[in-house]
Amino acid sequence: DWTMAEFRKTKIEEIRRQVGSGRVICGLSGGVDSAVAAVLIHEAIGDQLTCVFVDHGLMRLNEAEQVVTLFRDHYNIPLVHLDAEEKFLAGLAGVTDPEAKRKFIGKAFIDLFEEEAKKIGGADFLAQGTLYPDVIESVSFTGGPSVTIKSHHNVGGLPERMNMQLVEPLRELFKDEVRVLGRELGLPEIFVGRHPFPGPGLAIRIPGEVTKERCDILRKADAVYLDEIRKAGLYDAIWQAFAVLLPVRTVGVMGDHRTYDSVCALRAVTSTDGMTADIYPFDPSFLSSVSTRIVNEVQGINRVVYDFTSKPPGTIEWE
Ligand code: XMP
Repeated sequence: DWTMAEFRKTKIEEIRRQVGSGRVICGLSGGVDSAVAAVLIHEAIGDQLTCVFVDHGLMRLNEAEQVVTLFRDHYNIPLVHLDAEEKFLAGLAGVTDPEAKRKFIGKAFIDLFEEEAKKIGGADFLAQGTLYPDVIESVSFTGGPSVTIKSHHNVGGLPERMNMQLVEPLRELFKDEVRVLGRELGLPEIFVGRHPFPGPGLAIRIPGEVTKERCDILRKADAVYLDEIRKAGLYDAIWQAFAVLLPVRTVGVMGDHRTYDSVCALRAVTSTDGMTADIYPFDPSFLSSVSTRIVNEVQGINRVVYDFTSKPPGTIEWE
């Protein structure tokens, strides 16, 4: 794609101009956006860049390994891998309000980046994979009063005391354009084609309190769901598909005994930019086989429901 080749060149020059001989820290989330931003910035400034992957313990199954492999083995870009599961779970204990979860997670990320920056003798810039829709949705609906729908944790600037500037080379792009740029930069298809995943991770897919146990249950259900979607050849036709673990228990029966376990909701939507979305119209037989597998294979879930809400009025995530 010649337009993206052009964009790549222009951005590389822009990054070099902005950064000069400064040091940049880039936070990787495991998603496409931050990976593309990091690879682009690395191409521009090489080892002035330090990538930090914060594993908050709120990733999907096996996701953390995939990120580490991509950067270390595929690109040979040095990467600091922080295992921060305990810090995040401790901070989330007792927190049930969606915005409070986001605020805590956003702040914990910044604290960790700051610590890493100190370790390398200070960094002048923090790089992020912020996209255009992130900017809009965190700011306001045009024309109306300023209403924050969700404070995407990677938007909204940095604390004053940080003394770092932001480098956000993807700020004008939509997701589909980021994917084109990712291919242009040689990212493997399994990475580029991956469904979006929010920075706060599974924390906003577990309404109510987030615990390690609930994260583990959700990871298993989510993996079964995505496995079935891939096997049915539907993965690329869907913008985002995921499971949500509800803070509701219902009664069921398994074999000859009564169960009293959590409900899991399945979400799948089509979209071009995440700003509006339609539900994916699965075959009922597909949903029923996913439901059977989840209830049989995931201990702690005994009922599965499908979310039929488009965006608007729903949002894609449940929190
Ligand atoms: P919503 O739920 O607002 O989601 O319809 C739109 C898109 O944004 C993702 N999302 C987030 N991404 N930090 C992120 O980096 C966040 O706090 C966040 N909240 C939602 C969501 O997965 C969807 O792709």
